[in-house]
Amino acid sequence: MIAKMNKKPIKKKNISEKKIVKKEKTVVAKNDIEENNVQNKGGGRTPALLRGMKDLVPKDEFFWKTLYRTAENLSEAYGYGLINTPILEEAGLFVRTLGKGTDVVDKEMYVFEDLDGGKICLRPEATASCARAFINHGMQSLPQPVKFWYYGPMFRHDRPQAGRYRQFTQFGCESFGVHEAVVDAELIAVAYHFLEDLGLKTNIHINSLGTPEDRQNYLVELTGYLRTKRSYLCEDCKKRLVKNPLRVLDCKNPECQAVLTEAPQIIEWLSEASKAYFMKVLEYLDELSIPYVLQNTLVRGLDYYTDTVFEIYLDEEGEGAQSALGGGGRYNGLIEQLGGRPTPGAGFAIGLERVISVLRKQTDEGTCKIKEVFPAVFFAQLGEQARKKALHLLENLRKGGVIVAHSFGKSSLKGQMEMADKLKVRYSVILGQKEVQDGTAIIRDMESGIQEIVDQKKLKNALEKKLQPKV
Ligand code: HAM
Repeated sequence: MIAKMNKKPIKKKNISEKKIVKKEKTVVAKNDIEENNVQNKGGGRTPALLRGMKDLVPKDEFFWKTLYRTAENLSEAYGYGLINTPILEEAGLFVRTLGKGTDVVDKEMYVFEDLDGGKICLRPEATASCARAFINHGMQSLPQPVKFWYYGPMFRHDRPQAGRYRQFTQFGCESFGVHEAVVDAELIAVAYHFLEDLGLKTNIHINSLGTPEDRQNYLVELTGYLRTKRSYLCEDCKKRLVKNPLRVLDCKNPECQAVLTEAPQIIEWLSEASKAYFMKVLEYLDELSIPYVLQNTLVRGLDYYTDTVFEIYLDEEGEGAQSALGGGGRYNGLIEQLGGRPTPGAGFAIGLERVISVLRKQTDEGTCKIKEVFPAVFFAQLGEQARKKALHLLENLRKGGVIVAHSFGKSSLKGQMEMADKLKVRYSVILGQKEVQDGTAIIRDMESGIQEIVDQKKLKNALEKKLQPKV
């Protein structure tokens, strides 16, 4: 009834009334925020985290920092330069390159109208953005290859489930300007070593899509085959068959998968030159002892790929694993598609939430190879004077390179010692009223309980000496 009463007047509204309604809506929205603020003081509804989104909280800090440092070290070592492109881009950038008929473009992009009427989106990936930046900054004239690495959030309106989020973080590398098998192999090696440095054993699933001409020949064959099996395909694939038949190969529907077991395989449609190129990539991988499996049905879910395509899976998951940790490939037509001079390129991206989920599981099982290093010293203070002095001493220790845990929120020595025990520190520094007056501090060995009094000025040296590995 209420809904009916609300609907009627809206139908009759003329333009000027609509404007007024808009204004009212704005006012209502503003009031809502104010009301919420007021309510929150007395306990209103706390806004929820959006579906498929995650907060990064301090308990995850170690993993995120380790991943960033590993990515940075590796990228620097292999000569990739950091690129940071905006999160907002023209929607057309991805529609033109990832392709109509791909899940990302058809179903998952966060597209909206900008205030000036342009169609913009939250980037669903960064390869197209890197290609745009490469053209915009005239990087064709730089010595080739031009190598980028990036690390940041991507957005896809996917159905949230384990390892699938609507905002997720990728570490990726892109290499523009050189079409050589060794470049593909180097990119695979960087992705592989990134995960290896984190203690993860992985396996590369690899295939080749050949040149656009090879692909076109294959598409004729594939489309012919799929047409004969049309009635067995899911509704989405029936549409894909018309719009973009290659994307049928991405479908996870068991009935479509059954149809695909008999489908012609792209590898058989590669030209001799494409086959030779692919064999060269595999030769390099053999040389580098990087484990791989040939996966004839692997075509990746994006349209820009040519030649080599690959995905990275955790070794123990083996074939048929649920979700890849990363993926990539060559995209020789991408720059040209965006209006640049013909320039080959290749790259990969790794989904970091998926990597962290594996690392966390391993940590729980006690098998994780990377370990969080906790401070070896806790600083306890008693009384206001000691607290003030402790602030200075902590800063001096930090500047001297000694990282010390502390808890100014706790005032009792018992509470602070409990915390020191919990952190499993080797030594505690204790500063009370007496020590402040004497200019000293107590160092307690947490295992033996033996205490030593040292001059505050010698505190850093004394701690450094104690923390030195015994030879
Ligand atoms: P992609 O396979 O779409 O490729 O994504 C790469 C990785 O990002 C995936 O393997 C996965 O780990 C992670 N990922 C993708 N979607 C999600 C999601 N919804 N939630 C969590 N993680 C996700 C690309 O994005 C290409 N740009 C890779 C590339 C770079 N190709 C050439 N250069």
